[in-house]
Amino acid sequence: MDQSIEMTMKNRTGIGMSPVDSQRMIEAANNTPPSSSGDESALAMVDSTYIQGAEPVGSVPMPGTMKGAVQAAVNKLTGKHPEVLIDKLGERLAFERTGTRLYDYLITKCETTAQADSPISVDTLRRFRREEAQHFKLVAKALESLGADPTTQTPGADVSAVASSGVLQVMSDPRTSVDQSLEAILTAELVDHAGWELLIRLAGEMGLDDMATDFRAALAEEDDHLMQVRQWHEQSTLAQAGV
Ligand SMILES: [Fe+2]
Ligand SMILES: [Fe+2]
Repeated sequence: MDQSIEMTMKNRTGIGMSPVDSQRMIEAANNTPPSSSGDESALAMVDSTYIQGAEPVGSVPMPGTMKGAVQAAVNKLTGKHPEVLIDKLGERLAFERTGTRLYDYLITKCETTAQADSPISVDTLRRFRREEAQHFKLVAKALESLGADPTTQTPGADVSAVASSGVLQVMSDPRTSVDQSLEAILTAELVDHAGWELLIRLAGEMGLDDMATDFRAALAEEDDHLMQVRQWHEQSTLAQAGV
C-alpha cells in the first residue's frame, strides 16, 4: 500500500526503452501512408453535421408550485429567464452532493494510509465534507424558493456530472495516492469556486438579494477549501520531492 512515486524498470511505456523496435515502428509508420485521401477537415464536417442536428442535453421543468413566497420571488424575475438560474442551481446542487462523496473518499484514503508526518488534517476534511453537504441543502432551499423541484436533473447538472466524472474515478481508485487525490479534488474545488461566484452574480443581477447573501457565505467556505487543498497538495508534492 505504498503509493509514493518510485523509479523502476517496470515502466516500459516510453520509446526510449527499446530504441531498435521504436526505430522499426517509425519506419513502418513512414512506409504506410493513410489508406484514404483527405485531412481532419472531413472529420470536422461530420462533427458539424451532428452538431447541427442535435437535440439539447435536456430542459428545465415548469415550476410545480406558485404559492405565496414562491410567487413573490418569481415576480422579481418577470422579463428575465429564471430557467437559466434554475439550471445553474441544479448544477451546483449536483456538484455539492458529489463534493461530499469526494471528501468521503479522501477521508478514507487519509485514514487508511495514516502517515504520521502528513500535513493533512482529517478533522478539517470532515468539516469540508460537512460544508459541502450544507451547501447542497442551501441550493435545494434556493430552488424551492423559486418553486423548482430540487430532485430534478437539470441539463447543467447532467453536463457537469459528465465533466467531473474523471475526478470521481481518480478518487475512488484504490491505487491513487493521497497527493493524486488532492490534485483531483483541487480540480473540483476550482470549478466549485467559479460556480459559486457565477451564482452570486446571477442571483444578484436577478434581484434575488437574500439568495445572493446566502451564497456569499458558502463562497467564503469554498475560499477556505480551495486555499487549504492547494496548500496541502503543494506541501505534499514538495515533501515527496525532498525539498
Ligand atoms: Fe462545494
Ligand atoms: Fe468545496
